Amino acid sequence: MSLRATSDRWWKGAIMYCLDVETFLDWDGDGVGDLAGLTERIDYLAGLGVSVLWLMPFHPSPDLDDGYDISDFYAVDPRLGTLGEFVEVIRAAESRGMRVIIDLVVNHTSIEHPWFQASRSSRDSPYRDWYVWVDEPPAEPMEEVFPGEQGGTWTWDATAGQWYMHRFYDFQADLNVANPAVRQEIARIMGFWLQLGVSGFRVDAVPFLLEHQGIPNLGEEAGRDPHRYLKELRAFLQRRRGDAILLGEVNLPPADQRVFFGDEDGDELHLVFQFSIMQRAYLALARGDGRVLEAAFAELPEVPFDCQWATFLRNHDELTLDQLSDKERAEVFAAFGPDEDMQVYGRGLRRRLPPMLDGDQARLRLAYSLLFSLPGTPVLFYGEEIGMGEELSAHGRSAVRTPMQWSDEPGAGFSTAPEGAFPGPLVQGTFGPAAVNVAAQRDDPDSLLNWFERLIRRRRETHELALGTYRAVVTRPKSAFAHRCDWEGSTVIAVHNLGAARVDLRLPVDDLPDAVALDDLLRGGRIDVVRKRAAVDLEPYGYRWFRVVREGQRTTP
Ligand code: GLC
Repeated sequence: MSLRATSDRWWKGAIMYCLDVETFLDWDGDGVGDLAGLTERIDYLAGLGVSVLWLMPFHPSPDLDDGYDISDFYAVDPRLGTLGEFVEVIRAAESRGMRVIIDLVVNHTSIEHPWFQASRSSRDSPYRDWYVWVDEPPAEPMEEVFPGEQGGTWTWDATAGQWYMHRFYDFQADLNVANPAVRQEIARIMGFWLQLGVSGFRVDAVPFLLEHQGIPNLGEEAGRDPHRYLKELRAFLQRRRGDAILLGEVNLPPADQRVFFGDEDGDELHLVFQFSIMQRAYLALARGDGRVLEAAFAELPEVPFDCQWATFLRNHDELTLDQLSDKERAEVFAAFGPDEDMQVYGRGLRRRLPPMLDGDQARLRLAYSLLFSLPGTPVLFYGEEIGMGEELSAHGRSAVRTPMQWSDEPGAGFSTAPEGAFPGPLVQGTFGPAAVNVAAQRDDPDSLLNWFERLIRRRRETHELALGTYRAVVTRPKSAFAHRCDWEGSTVIAVHNLGAARVDLRLPVDDLPDAVALDDLLRGGRIDVVRKRAAVDLEPYGYRWFRVVREGQRTTP
């Protein structure tokens, strides 16, 4: 293994797991998940093979957008615990070789934040210019992030006697990041949490954070490239902690995402969520057509070696399909969320994956095998490892944010309090805790949970997937999708059958003249290479990962 592959890029070989403390485990019995509960279950996550926890916002907040409306960046929401307990989470994770990253939500604050309260109170307040105020909203409308729910991006504030800007809800006022004082404060927030031991940040809404649109008095920022600010943030992060990372939410087409990695060697975000592949994966699954993914791969820009995509199938938000054409989106809606109630904002689905696939285990495993073999660091959303479903009676995106299902006990093992005290309803019906829970799946060797544990172990052993260069391998029939990953003379090829019919294909390895066989990394055994081809069969929705064995090379155990 070359020196380039060593642990200084720990995040490339990572398995990330996103959770909301509020819905993970309630340890004090008040009905709300807490940091003490999370500490209690760190061993569960370590056992699963997770190496990085991404904690959704846990700060004081009026909680109108699930904590993404923060009213104090330097504290812990008292419902969830204390700063002391936060440090215990970090410490518990560290002792199991795990790292913790947290959300950095600094595009906006809650309007209850003391900065906003001061800002609105008077034109002379030192905080006035911390937000974006105008006498008249611009004639040119801005895009709303939550169409139908948000009511515009400018709101009149009678106390201030001016309008303030908000890219998101009206209770989330945009900070004026062109103001040097705001920038200094954002750096201070990062410095604070780094000092407490976090390994980096999932940066919320990065394109909106950088944008200058709407800001009236740009001062020194006028005419400067907004990406300079991201470079400054990155440099600050690295000065404070050399191995910390920025993982950015940038939902843009791949070519536009590239610029968020920064200059040639990568001097902005380390990781960017790969929204385009995610959306196309659903289209490919809906059509049973691997060519959709071949085309998506072709659109991916080259990523600097010190950067990487973060891949996911579901997260805490709606499954956005905004990068698909209207026709393609309609196809995915028809396949996976036909009822209007399953859809949201005209662009997405408020569902989890297992119910979308009618609980079909073969298809579910195919989808996750694909995820874990794609270019990038895979990110799981809590409950995916056991196949949790959504609860549509919950409002909007909350449908996928229900309490974690630990057991079939009352309260799903999440809490001993009455369900009315929970942050949201438990899932009802087929995917509810009686049928889908951790305790039952631990005992069943064929469960999704144990399957995930095996998949994650294999992924962590397969450095080619973490560090190598990717390309699609053109194969037919069209229901099959093959891609390979090359790293330092070693090659891994993954093959996925998106269709309901068995597939036999001949996998080409023309450019590897000394290839003698393929080691099957998921089920064991090997396939000989004959005349530069390997004959591979795939069951309906089958998936296989292979490492190419070259003459004289050892086999993979
Ligand atoms: C991001 C978050 C989303 C939140 C929004 C506003 O998109 O993922 O959950 O509502 O930012 O902070």
